[in-house]
Amino acid sequence: TTLGASAAERGGRYFGAAVAANKLSDNVYTTILNREFNSVTPENEMKIDATEPNQNQFNYTNADRIVQHARSRGMAVRGHTLAWHSQQPGWMQNMSGTALRNAMLNHVTQVATHYRGQIHSWDVVNEAFADGSSGARRDSNLQRTGNDWIEAAFRAARAADPNAKLCYNDYNTDDWTHAKTQAVYRMVQDFKQRGVPIDCVGLQSHLNNQSPYPSNYRTTLSSFAALGVDVQITELDIENANATWYRNVVNDCLAVSRCTGITVWGIRDSDSWRASQNPLLFDGNGNKKAAYDAVLQALNNG
Ligand code: G3I
Repeated sequence: TTLGASAAERGGRYFGAAVAANKLSDNVYTTILNREFNSVTPENEMKIDATEPNQNQFNYTNADRIVQHARSRGMAVRGHTLAWHSQQPGWMQNMSGTALRNAMLNHVTQVATHYRGQIHSWDVVNEAFADGSSGARRDSNLQRTGNDWIEAAFRAARAADPNAKLCYNDYNTDDWTHAKTQAVYRMVQDFKQRGVPIDCVGLQSHLNNQSPYPSNYRTTLSSFAALGVDVQITELDIENANATWYRNVVNDCLAVSRCTGITVWGIRDSDSWRASQNPLLFDGNGNKKAAYDAVLQALNNG
């Protein structure tokens, strides 16, 4: 059996991977992708610099290749990401105020409309909270357009694609006691109370095993779920692919019924943004690692 098939048998969950369009011609890569995964996230191809390189000139070529590859094989697609302070095209980086707000909303509307009906979940807003202990919003050109920029983005996404699940996605939100986790929690709670459209929270979960495994990770997942949103583990990778940690992540997700899917951030170690840490489930030759066996076993137990 495979990661995707086993996850599907656990309450219809998905098991996905981040995919790069320029690797779809690599046979080893696509063999693993097509065999193991039932969801994909474009690693870079849907980001703002890729999809709107010049203002109001949209380029969907590479993102469309991934969407086509996935959907023709029955895989779900996670859209990543509509609004983000990073990987903005040059024209956007220096914008501010109403012009930037309108450009951001236009981007959300245009891209979500292009993919309307094809996206399982959108990371509508990515990484909007500051690191450290402040619990504040991250300072960025988008944040400086007004604190309500996030809810404005979610409303625009809902209007453009009413059936996609709309997620807020961030990193270092695994530990329940972390100020950033608490700040995201308060925002989601506020959105739910005020009827701002939000359906899911993405925990990127780029885990670093120099620190202990977040023993309250399951509490984080269940606490967000209790607000009435799905939780998705969206960019999982673990330093040195610690098999015990991978097993823990899967078991923690399976313990929370609204933890609906897990995405690993790449296929082979050599595909990873942190390749030197060998953080993924397949080695550079495409062989299954011990972490793969741990994940599959956890998916199949119970
Ligand atoms: O495509 C160009 C290529 O033409 C050029 O020759 C090369 C030279 O540097 O750069 C290539 O672009 C790189 C791109 O990855 C594709 O490989 C960019 O420089 C590089 O910055 C970009 O890195 C991506 C990073 O996001 C940028 O922020 C990583 O692949 C991607 O894995 C990473 O993903 C992020 C998530 O989106 C958000 N959460 C954190 C995660 C890890 O940083």
